[in-house]
Order: sequence, then C-alpha cells, then structure tokens
Amino acid sequence: MGDAGMQPTVSTSENLSPQDSLFSMTDVFLISLITGLFTYWFFFRKKKEEVPELPKIQPVTSPERDSSFIEKMKKTGRNIVVFYGSQTGTAEEFANRLSKDAHRYGLRGMAADPEEYDLSDLSRLSEIDKSLAVFCMATYGEGDPTDNAQDFYDWLQETDADLSGLRFAVFGLGNKTYEHFNAMGKYVDKRLQELGAQRIFELGLGDDDGNLEEDFITWREQFWPAVCEHFGVEATGEESSIRQYELVVHTDMNMSKVYTGEMGRLKSYENQKPPFDAKNPFLASVTMNRKLNEGGERHLMHLELDISDSKIRYESGDHVAVYPANDSSLVNQIGEILHTDLDTIMSLNNLDEESNKKHPFPCPTSYRTALTYYLDITNPPRTNVLYELAQYATDTGEQEQLRKMASSAAEGKALYLSWVVEARRNILAILQDMPSLQPPIDHLCELLPRLQARYYSIASSSKVHPNAIHICAVTVEYETKTGRLNKGVATNWLKNMVPDENRSKSLVPMYVRKSQFRLPFKPSTPVIMIGPGTGIAPFIGFIQERAWLKQQGKDVGETVLYYGCRHEHEDYLYREELARFHQDGLLTQLNVAFSRDQAEKVYVQHLLRKNKENVWKLVNEGNAHIYVCGDARNMARDVQNTFYEIVAEFGNMSQPQAVDYVKKLMTKGRYSLDVWS
Ligand SMILES: Cc1cc2nc3c(=O)[nH]c(=O)nc-3n(C[C@H](O)[C@H](O)[C@H](O)COP(=O)(O)OP(=O)(O)OC[C@H]3O[C@@H](n4cnc5c(N)ncnc54)[C@H](O)[C@@H]3O)c2cc1C
Ligand SMILES: NC(=O)c1ccc[n+]([C@@H]2O[C@H](COP(=O)([O-])OP(=O)(O)OC[C@H]3O[C@@H](n4cnc5c(N)ncnc54)[C@H](OP(=O)(O)O)[C@@H]3O)[C@@H](O)[C@H]2O)c1
Ligand SMILES: Cc1cc2nc3c(=O)[nH]c(=O)nc-3n(C[C@H](O)[C@H](O)[C@H](O)COP(=O)(O)O)c2cc1C
Repeated sequence: MGDAGMQPTVSTSENLSPQDSLFSMTDVFLISLITGLFTYWFFFRKKKEEVPELPKIQPVTSPERDSSFIEKMKKTGRNIVVFYGSQTGTAEEFANRLSKDAHRYGLRGMAADPEEYDLSDLSRLSEIDKSLAVFCMATYGEGDPTDNAQDFYDWLQETDADLSGLRFAVFGLGNKTYEHFNAMGKYVDKRLQELGAQRIFELGLGDDDGNLEEDFITWREQFWPAVCEHFGVEATGEESSIRQYELVVHTDMNMSKVYTGEMGRLKSYENQKPPFDAKNPFLASVTMNRKLNEGGERHLMHLELDISDSKIRYESGDHVAVYPANDSSLVNQIGEILHTDLDTIMSLNNLDEESNKKHPFPCPTSYRTALTYYLDITNPPRTNVLYELAQYATDTGEQEQLRKMASSAAEGKALYLSWVVEARRNILAILQDMPSLQPPIDHLCELLPRLQARYYSIASSSKVHPNAIHICAVTVEYETKTGRLNKGVATNWLKNMVPDENRSKSLVPMYVRKSQFRLPFKPSTPVIMIGPGTGIAPFIGFIQERAWLKQQGKDVGETVLYYGCRHEHEDYLYREELARFHQDGLLTQLNVAFSRDQAEKVYVQHLLRKNKENVWKLVNEGNAHIYVCGDARNMARDVQNTFYEIVAEFGNMSQPQAVDYVKKLMTKGRYSLDVWS
C-alpha cells in the first residue's frame, strides 16, 4: 500500500482570541463602540461561514417586463403555466414540452421562468378558467433550489398566502447519487399543499443517474389523463408537431450584426466590458496547459487562465464556468449529411410574439456558429426530438423506429434506452445510422438543447494568484457500443488550447460561480480535505491559501489531505507540489491511496479508517472542518459512511446518532461537499 508519511501535530484547542485586556476608564466608551462594531462584523462573517450562502449567478439585466403572469395568461388566453427551476436547461426543456402538450387537450400552456414573475400571484390563478400551475423543479448543492428558483423558494418559506384556489402538480428533477435527492421538488409539492393548494397529480421524481427522460415521459403519460379527468376535457388527437420558431434567411446581412458565438450582447467578445457573468463571459487566455499524468491512457491536465484586467474576483473553493465549442469536424459532418451550407445567415424567430424568448439562441447567426457554440450536438437526444424528427424519415422502417422510441410504450422505452441512451448515439450518429432521415437544418436547430457551460473547481488561491484561475481536469474519451469514439466537449476543447504569445488564439469564455465550499474563517481551525482524482482541484487552492496565511504570520491549524489515484507512478497529480508543501510543514498530513498498485483496492476511506483515532481527535477536539471533493456517485457516499463509523466508534454513539452528528456538522458548515458525477 502506498501510504505516504504522516507527521500529525494535533492541535487540541482553538485560538479563541480573548478580549480580556486591561483598559483605562477613559477608553471604555471608545473601546465599547469598537468592540460592538467588531462583534457585529464578527457574527455577520461567522454566520456566513456556518450557514452556507446559496450560490447565485449575478443576475443578468433583462428588459423591464410585466411581472404578472396572470395578466399575461389572460391576455394570451392560456390556462396552464409551467414554471421551471433550471440550471442547465433540462427542467426548462420539460416545461416547454408540457406547455406544448396542453394544445392536444384543448388547453393552452405557457412555460415560465419564476425569476421573471411575481409568484405571489399564484393565489389569483383561479381567476382563469381550467387553470393549472405545473412546476418542473431541479435540485442542486445540498438540496438547494436553482438560481432562478431562489426567490420563489424564499417566498414559499416566508409566505402564509392562501392558495386554496390553486391547482398544481410538481415534477422534480434530481439525481439519486446526491444526498438530498429531489429536495426541491419534494419541498414545493409539500409546501403548496400546506398553503391550501390542490394537488391534481402526484409528485414525479426524476433521477438523472438513471433515465431522467423515461421518468419524465412515464410521469407525463399519467399526468395528462389526470388533467383530463379533473377538467372534464379530452385529448383532441395525436401528438402534433408544431413549430415554435420560423426561419428567416438573411441574404444581405450586415455581418457586424451577426452573432459569432457571444452569449448575450452582440460583439461582447470584441469589446469586453465588466462585470462578467453567465451572459457576459470574459475571454481568458490560456497561459499554461500541462499534462499532469506520467502514464496511462488518460490525459489529465492543469490549465491556467489569465484574468488580468477583468476585475474578476474569486475565492478558494469557487467554480469557474467555461463555455466550450463543439468539435468542428462534428459540425462539418452534420452540414454534409444534411447537404447544408453552414455559412447561411439566418434567424429563428418565435412565432409566439408574446413570448419572452424571441430566439432559441442569439440570432441572426450562421448554422455553423449555432452548431459550434450554441447547441448541444453530443448528448443523446431526448424523445421529443426523435418524435419531431420522425416526420423527416422517408424510410418507413426508420420512421417507425423513431416514433416507437418516442412513445411511452414499454417496448419503445426499452428501444430508446438501448439504441440511444446506452449506445450514446448523438444526433450525428442517428443521422448516420438512419440514412433516410433528412430533417431541415433549421428545425434541427430549433429542437436541439442549448450547449451548457462546464464547471471546474478552481485549483488556485486568489491570494497567491490574483490574476489567474487554475483548472485541473481529466479529458473525457470513451468508445461507444457502436464502436464510435465519443469525446467530451469541454475537456477535448481545453486540451487543444495551446498558450500562444499573442494571446489571441487560446481564449476561453468563462465566468466565476460563487460556491459554499469555503476554508474556515479562522486559519487556526484544522482542516481535513478528502479529494481523490481530480477531486484534488479545490484543495490545491486551499493549500496555497493556508501556506500564504502562514507566510503572513497567521497561526495556521492542521492541514490534512487524503488523496487517491490509480497508480503512484502514473496519475499522482501535483506530486511535487504536494511533497513540497508537506516538507515545508504546511501540509501536516499527506495520506495517499494508490488504488491499483496492489491486489486489493486501497481508497481514501481505507486510510481514514486506518487513522481513525487521529481523525476523530481532529474533528471532536480540534473542531476540524471536513471537505470532500470529486466523485458523487460512490466516493462521497463511501467517505461519509466511513465518518459515520468513526463517529459511532469514538463518540460512543449508535448509528443514527452518528448520522445525526455528521448531519449537524454539515449544517454548521463543518462538513462540505463539492461533488459531481
Ligand atoms: C460543480 C462541478 C465541479 C466540477 N469540477 C471539475 C474539476 O475540477 N475537474 C474536472 O475534470 N471535472 C469537473 N467537473 C466535471 C466537468 O464539469 C465536466 O462535466 C467534465 O469535464 C466533462 O465535460 P466534457 O464537456 O468534456 O464532457 P461531456 O461532453 O459533457 O461528456 C460527458 C458525458 O459523457 C458521458 N460519459 C463520460 N464517460 C463515459 C463513458 N465512459 N461511457 C459512457 N458515457 C460516458 C457522461 O454522460 C458524461 O456526462 C465538475 C462538475 C461540476 C458540476
Ligand atoms: N461527467 C463527466 O463526464 C465526468 C468527467 C470526468 C470525471 N467525472 C467524474 O469525476 C470523478 C473524478 O474522476 P477522476 O478521473 O479524476 O478520478 P479517477 O482517477 O477515476 O479516480 C481517482 C481515484 O479514486 C478511486 N475510487 C474509485 N471509486 C472510489 C470510491 N468509491 N471511493 C474512493 N475512491 C474511489 C479510483 O480507484 P479505481 O479507479 O482504481 O477504482 C482512483 O484511485 C469521477 O466521479 C468521475 O466519474 C465525470
Ligand atoms: C453540481 C450538481 C449538484 C446537484 N445536486 C443535486 C442534489 O443535491 N439533489 C438532487 O436530487 N440532484 C442534484 N443534482 C442533479 C440535478 O438536479 C439534475 O441533473 C437535474 O436534471 C438538472 O436539471 P437542470 O438541467 O434543469 O438544471 C445535482 C447536479 C449537479 C451537476
């Protein structure tokens, strides 16, 4: 077992900075005032540390609009409003699909972003005949709402509104690998009922670790009959294909008015203006791109992004969001297979003039730009896309197969699962494997979801690198069941970013997203960091920051790292840097688990168990803060179970008491997770 040396120097008490100096009487008033102000500041800061703040993307200013969704529904003849709490677009997509479905039942739907409306109007929804509010709510972090649902969530918690006239249904989007599975969907469903609203169909719980699409269509196929029964309406016929956007081809366009990949303001990449956020990313140049692993088939990399002159500030533990570009060869192949001139300039304009969303992506633009920067062309398409595409397959077998996969019949679901999801067929693979399928490219662009930013845990400290943000990432590449080589969009795009002298070529559109993953307020508080693989990323920032604090003469507490990789001589990331911090005494323990260097697997949790007495002492006596980063699917849960064991054994607690103890650490901000799957 490759366990690196350990030099524990356990501190058993916190430096409590006593305020017991002797003061002369004449100073009392002044000192009291200062102490009062300090105390206020101290508690304010402490509160922030212990009750983690929810991450929130800085709001992007949008044009003034009527915040009453009731008035809008009345004006446009809608009965059903489908709100979505969405971060990466899935809940929004589901909301759009449900609102489109309404048409089939003689009803009219409208998808709505809760951030854009005054949700206290829910109590007035009964003013509209056959009215219904549906909520598609995703969960993030530790059971938190998405950014756009935060105000709605706050309102639900505070309000005592009477919602007795409101009819509602909730579909939650979550992932079972996270501890607080679908917490938001469950909360909204429960809270609306408490406020007197009438649930007309049971809560749906979608699991993104399984087959979220199937969960949704299964819920939806029972939801609509419940709506029909409730309102006494009937389906008017088959699901119909209705275009939401109309194509306008611009033959004589002034190119300075054409979007070339910007997320918001036209020409924002040529004329960069802070503040930088999701709609206005900063173009950071890559100043370093180095391979971290010494061997093996994978490519693990360390990148440095220059943020000088951007006014971007970050703290250790924050995430950097990166907008990648799709592989140009995939884009070209789509153009070729659909016999399209990708450089055609076009706009897709919403046929619903009342809609807040005028275009599915920034328009006017070219098909090439849309497929490169705005659309997700690599994830397996959802069933609604297959349904709409089916009409363009001239071969009846292919058309039938597409329709079947889009249907809610058991056979269709199984086919969709095996042929699309498990085979990881993206849109290009589908077009290649169904030669008669020739959709017009504009309809395809309307159907494909938006390409999402990718998040990375920042692997640097702003105290040491105020003008740079570092990333530690592993390149995604795998072979599918059909023998194709699928490549992760962002990691392969980043891999090819070569630092260049002019800093003009390797530019990464990025912004910083605040997180709750924070070092303790007092540097003297011990920290236990657990981060195998790329989970090491934020801890490089934490370690740099603690080393800097030490240099500033601060009393820095125990800094303990549990890291794991496959082979000591293959993928031991930041080996030299970590060894230096260990030698310098900043890193008081460097525990490394090499999982594949011996017959038995050795993981970080095995080392935690081995050092359990010391771990308990740090937690119990030293008030240590625990941090876990990396794999959400297995590692985070296994590590948490190990903490339950340690707490139960040394704290003389039963299993439920130990679980409760760890949960309390979490609430106090002393057990934090930064995990992904
Ligand atoms: C808060 C947060 C922090 C993160 N921090 C980091 C970090 O510090 N470092 C880091 O490397 N990543 C990090 N990630 C993950 C990162 O955001 C990206 O998801 C990752 O880099 C892959 O992006 P990509 O565009 O290259 O791959 P994509 O194009 O998004 O492809 C990835 C998808 O491919 C599929 N896939 C991958 N492997 C296989 C396989 N073997 N078989 C079948 N399907 C497969 C999966 O569905 C996966 O979702 C973080 C994620 C979050 C949410
Ligand atoms: N969404 C995506 O596309 C994407 C992309 C990249 C990474 N990820 C995820 O990011 C995480 C980190 O990836 P990585 O490539 O950096 O890690 P990695 O190198 O695959 O794994 C790091 C170490 O963790 C070990 N490990 C495996 N299961 C564990 C468990 N249950 N408990 C503790 N340790 C365990 C591994 O051992 P063994 O492998 O020998 O078992 C290895 O030694 C993983 O969850 C990965 O799935 C997701
Ligand atoms: C960083 C991260 C944190 C997440 N946290 C949770 C969680 O605490 N509970 C849960 O059930 N799902 C969690 N999820 C899963 C998402 O809710 C799920 O993928 C959902 O489909 C996303 O919907 P959206 O695309 O509309 O944002 C998390 C996903 C990510 C990427």
